[in-house]
Amino acid sequence: MDLTHHNSSLYHIASASKTPERILVTGGCGFAGANFVRYVHAMHPEVNITVLDLLTPAGNLESIKSLLGDGVEFVHGDIRDEALLDHLVPGHDAIVHYAAESHNDNSIANPEPFVKTNVEGTFRLLEAARKYDVRFHHISTDEVYGDLALDDPAKFTEETPYHPSSPYSSTKASSDMLVRAWHRTYGLRTTISNCSNNYGPYQHVEKFIPRQITNIIEGIRPKLYGDGLNVRDWIHTEDHSSAVWTILTTGRLGETYLIGANGERNNLTVLRDILRVMGQPEDAFDWVKDRPGHDRRYAIDSTKLQTELGWRPTHTDFESGLRQTVQWYIDNPQWWRPMKHDTELVYSRRGQ
Ligand code: NAD
Ligand code: DAU
Repeated sequence: MDLTHHNSSLYHIASASKTPERILVTGGCGFAGANFVRYVHAMHPEVNITVLDLLTPAGNLESIKSLLGDGVEFVHGDIRDEALLDHLVPGHDAIVHYAAESHNDNSIANPEPFVKTNVEGTFRLLEAARKYDVRFHHISTDEVYGDLALDDPAKFTEETPYHPSSPYSSTKASSDMLVRAWHRTYGLRTTISNCSNNYGPYQHVEKFIPRQITNIIEGIRPKLYGDGLNVRDWIHTEDHSSAVWTILTTGRLGETYLIGANGERNNLTVLRDILRVMGQPEDAFDWVKDRPGHDRRYAIDSTKLQTELGWRPTHTDFESGLRQTVQWYIDNPQWWRPMKHDTELVYSRRGQ
């Protein structure tokens, strides 16, 4: 018996090694989803992409508008709409599920949409994927693991127990559990990725880095929560996209992969970097009240993804990625200005 051949064909069955021809990307008008659509369109132009997005205040069709009609199709709708999914899902080789309510501060103010979209929405998509036997990649977050102490040398791995803190992260943890159950119980061809904090173009101005950049452009003082020492593990969104593509096409079915690029920095350091890059004094910001339940530190160990699938990040120089991001917001005020005023109004009502 040819064991080598036997093992490799088994691996072939258990892995997702076929390049998909047609993918359905949910949440493809949001920050990470739009960057993924743009990445696949540029790197794999033979792949047809359907974007399903509800265009909540976090979604912006402008982020993918230039691609429409060129292998990218947009469908306006809700991932919880069963009839729409029955119409849309057949004919796709894979679903890449980015759609979510994604902002921790919003989840603290009003958790209900988070349960509806992140839990019920993922359930509906899983059911549609099961009905039409479609491969499913679930986009998740490192926040499902809770947080680490600042002086803890540990990082999150795929074995770290789930311990979410916020309404947002608990709904993402719930959705991960649904995906695992659909794989084990129904044999759905799934993978999950849990990524750390993304930065780059097309990110909503409610999020930390774009909020501060656009504040400075608008003459508003940047705002830092609490003592500013909370650590996030920053990764350029293009590296997130390349990792997701790698997992979608070569990941082992039923597996979880952590995505990160060794980008740990505390918020004070990041804010001072932004101020320096934008030619401002390093103390030109306001301290504001802390986020309730604020996670202290995230850190990703991406050894599994790197050793098993050979993925590597390319944007490893944070300062250079930050400069490009600052330049993108300077060059594209028409993209973010329409949402800036209302976003700051919400923050000022919360005293942040
Ligand atoms: P985002 O808020 O920028 O975009 C979310 C998108 O989903 C929007 O376009 C919105 O219109 C759409 N959407 C929301 N509810 C919907 C619904 N019911 N039906 C259809 N579309 C709906 O979020 P993001 O930062 O791009 O995050 C996308 C995904 O990536 C999320 O699942 C998030 O948990 C995950 N993630 C993000 C990061 C990050 O740093 N941004 C890191 C790790 C994981
Ligand atoms: O870790 C991955 C997660 O990263 C994703 O799952 C989430 O969808 C994404 O929003 C992000 O979550 P965070 O809560 O870490 O990101 P946010 O940009 O909201 O905040 C980053 C840090 O900056 C956090 O410690 C809070 C702080 N902060 C945020 C804002 C908006 C400030 O100090 N000032 C601010 O104005």
